[in-house]
Amino acid sequence: MRLIDVTEETWARLTEAAVEAMGRAYAPYSGFSVGAAALTDDGRVVSGCNVENAAYGVTLCAECSLVSELFATGGGTLRAFVCVNGDGEPLAPCGRCRQLLFEHKGPELLLATPAGVLTMEQVLPGAFGPEDLS
Ligand code: THU
Repeated sequence: MRLIDVTEETWARLTEAAVEAMGRAYAPYSGFSVGAAALTDDGRVVSGCNVENAAYGVTLCAECSLVSELFATGGGTLRAFVCVNGDGEPLAPCGRCRQLLFEHKGPELLLATPAGVLTMEQVLPGAFGPEDLS
């Protein structure tokens, strides 16, 4: 699979879903709303928003709710991912969420970032993953 396999139309659709999710964020402490959306390998679109907590460290990133929706709607793996800030612009997923996404990536997960479309290997090179446990 190559970068070209995810069309501009798909990226636009994912960005739209991420912006919609961002509008449902609960971010009263940071004031920084985040939305994320991804295409699954079987063609579903899953999304999520950040959900903060008065105990700041308990905050759920948008990617956490996206992964939860991935499983709640049937599981599978992720093919293309986008994360947006409150202005709907691409946002780099935080380090913890890169690890979270790595676990659920398909054969080649592509991520739309401020630096352009990157592979999972590019955003988290040499990652620790499930295979390291065997
Ligand atoms: N945030 C995410 O939801 N995902 C990221 O990848 C980066 C950070 C959220 C967590 C917190 O609610 C807010 O952005 C500010 O850090």
